[in-house]
Amino acid sequence: MKPNLIALALSVIACALSAASLWRSVSPHPAPAIAAPAPAEPDYPLEDKMNRLHRLALKLGRALDQENLTLAAFYHHEMDAIAEEIVVHGVIHEDKPVGYMASLMLQPPLAYLESSLEHSDLPGCRRDYLQLLKACNTCHTGIGIIHPPIVPPPPLESESPDGVPPPPSPRS
Ligand code: HEC
Repeated sequence: MKPNLIALALSVIACALSAASLWRSVSPHPAPAIAAPAPAEPDYPLEDKMNRLHRLALKLGRALDQENLTLAAFYHHEMDAIAEEIVVHGVIHEDKPVGYMASLMLQPPLAYLESSLEHSDLPGCRRDYLQLLKACNTCHTGIGIIHPPIVPPPPLESESPDGVPPPPSPRS
């Protein structure tokens, strides 16, 4: 390895670790195991995947508002698949090892939420959901992404006359 490549590799790893420790400092859960970085893949459509993650996160939040854990688990599953893809593709964004960072910052909160969903633990799901959104924002802030913070969906403005909220579409 040439010296400048070594310096780049070191700065990339330092960046991943500092972002990961930032996430751990806001997480109530124990630190996740550190996985080996996957090989990088250029031209990965990260922006599309992120926008999809965002839409799914909002739908998941709405499903939790409606106490519909089956639907929440469906959206969680979709988010999990995208997170895994980002990790497996070893996504690099502007020299930042986003794929590796996602294995440290995004997959663990998704795993905690999955466990709460499996136990039909609604308060746990709500807690883990907020932690998940915090992880989104921690990575964005750490990397310097200029995007408004990811927040839970606003409360539904109107409900149907019988007080039962309309079922959300399972499409995303
Ligand atoms: C490991 C780091 C990381 C995590 C975790 C992460 N993101 Fe991102 N996010 C990025 C990067 C890098 C970009 C910039 C992508 C680009 O512009 O190509 C981005 C951009 C975005 C954008 C803006 C996309 C656009 O159109 O410019 C949204 C929305 C977004 N992320 C949502 C989320 C949500 C929701 C989560 C959590 C469920 C999340 N992100 C978690 C790294 C992360």
